[in-house]
Amino acid sequence: MSSVLETVQLSERKKVEKPIYGLVVRGVTKHFHRTKRTKNKLRFYQKIRHLFKREKEVIRAVNDISLEVNIGEIYGILGANGSGKSTLIRLISTLLLPDAGSIQVFGDDVVTHSLKVRRVMNRVSVEASFFKRLSSAENLIYAARLYGIPAAEAERKARQILERLGFDPDRMDEEMEQLSRGMQQKVAIARALLTTPMLLLLDEPTTGLDPKSKRDVQAFIEEIRQERNAVIVLTTHDMVEAERLCDKIAIIDNGRFIAEGTVEELIASTPSESEVPATLEDVFITLTGKRIEEDE
Ligand SMILES: Nc1ncnc2c1ncn2[C@@H]1O[C@H](COP(=O)(O)OP(=O)(O)OP(=O)(O)O)[C@@H](O)[C@H]1O
Ligand SMILES: [Mg+2]
Repeated sequence: MSSVLETVQLSERKKVEKPIYGLVVRGVTKHFHRTKRTKNKLRFYQKIRHLFKREKEVIRAVNDISLEVNIGEIYGILGANGSGKSTLIRLISTLLLPDAGSIQVFGDDVVTHSLKVRRVMNRVSVEASFFKRLSSAENLIYAARLYGIPAAEAERKARQILERLGFDPDRMDEEMEQLSRGMQQKVAIARALLTTPMLLLLDEPTTGLDPKSKRDVQAFIEEIRQERNAVIVLTTHDMVEAERLCDKIAIIDNGRFIAEGTVEELIASTPSESEVPATLEDVFITLTGKRIEEDE
């Protein structure tokens, strides 16, 4: 952690012109082996035989992906269901090992220095796990204690963040399992921000939230970017969110980046058939042939 801070402070002092990359991903690939499903209806003995002779198919969930994110930037990854967004986030967060390529977080390799990397990053995802019978306050205090934050400070900070996210503070003492999915998601975001991560991985942070909550979370993410000078990677299905928050956007399709740039660059590089200027959604549909759907 200290080396990261030192690097940042050093660069500020020297007024280095070159951007400091907080996150560098080079040619990363991750394959999964999945049992091939048969479309035909099988008789009982055929099913048994199939069980023993399982054919495997290879899923290229992440296929030769490279990216760089500067400190103070929000990098957006836009893709349909199953395009590889969460797999890429899990690779960066050390939860999965890449089959090929390398990932560096503030100069440290995620495979060889995973502990060091974990200390400077936090991930928010829809499948966040909690102690369901404990309240959100208790869950947040527990998480904060793991990072050495005293309980009173953790509670004060947690209340502050949750309130900022539009979470009713009166419900902080209710068991997690009694909270709606959206409320649980806000607790997951608060948990990631109790500490001061230098790298924040937000895997669909607003999917499933109502429009007001979505705006609250988006405004909060913008604040974090301004206040903390962190590196933020955000995956989303939401074009408006990507346009609003991201400095750079990559479009992922079948595990591959098929385009990358600012919104303006992406729009400029996509031929528009009509007189009306293209939108990010037009770019997405033109490049992937898919309409992106919000699974709310
Ligand atoms: N553990 C796993 N084992 C086998 N296949 C997997 C595994 N994890 C992901 N996959 C496959 O990898 C591909 C990419 O999945 P991933 O979860 O990264 O997509 P995603 O872009 O996050 O989708 P969504 O928008 O639905 O969250 C999918 O085909 C998925 O079925
Ligand atoms: Mg996902």
